[in-house]
Amino acid sequence: MSQVDVCIAVINRLASSFVPQVGMVLGSGLGPFADQVNAVASISFDELPGFPQAGVGGHAGRLVLGHVGNTRVAVLQGRAHYYEHGHADAMAVAIQTFKAMGCEALVLTNAAGSMVTDAGPGSVMLLTDHINMTGVSPLFGAQGNQRFVDMTQAYHHGLNDAMRSAAKANNVTLHEGVYAWMCGPHFETPAEIRALKVLGAQAVGMSTVPEVILARHQGLPVCALSIVTNYASGMSPTPLSHEQTMEYAKMATEDVERLLNAFLQNYEVPV
Ligand code: HPA
Repeated sequence: MSQVDVCIAVINRLASSFVPQVGMVLGSGLGPFADQVNAVASISFDELPGFPQAGVGGHAGRLVLGHVGNTRVAVLQGRAHYYEHGHADAMAVAIQTFKAMGCEALVLTNAAGSMVTDAGPGSVMLLTDHINMTGVSPLFGAQGNQRFVDMTQAYHHGLNDAMRSAAKANNVTLHEGVYAWMCGPHFETPAEIRALKVLGAQAVGMSTVPEVILARHQGLPVCALSIVTNYASGMSPTPLSHEQTMEYAKMATEDVERLLNAFLQNYEVPV
């Protein structure tokens, strides 16, 4: 039995016949959104082989299954990062389990640095594309032609439009931008940020991109939001730290929770 098969067996035992529509990954500071789920089951990652072990502050390490409004969701409270062990496929089992459970779409969230003056700490950014600056792929070692994933529309236009509508209807200012994935765990230098700006990125972070690639490999449509926790390196006198990330993530939490709620209330199968 594969790890995904074991995870599905555990999930079926604890939440039999529950088929989620939307899979979600809650990034740093966004974990409390899981409390808004009318939960059918809450499963510790310890019980799910291959799921990330909680490590970074702000991550609870639970899979919460349940409803937000009428929409069935599977919410991952916590994620694994490439920088933890140097494995870009750290989220492979989790994303494959979303697909195997029956999810039709994936919503990813993260904390990120902003390279745009207009989008300061506490703002929210919809990702329209990404730049993988790490040189690695979570699909290293994958077999078959399916591994040659088309990344042309990695961030689904229909889901993005739905997120824009949800933002508009709820007075949430939704910035948009391209996310640069840096491996971390160190923050960037000012020179790196200047380079990323030239390359066309507006946000910078240490997660999400491997999950996008894994999801597209599974044929799952993706939508992703960044919570801006800081101006990127060299743009502000405030020193960069994980504590700052966690503190400023809270500034946008209310907006993002309202946005995610509205998105889920009006969720339709992506076409
Ligand atoms: N750089 C990389 N990752 C981040 C940042 C940043 O400035 N802020 C939050 N995550």
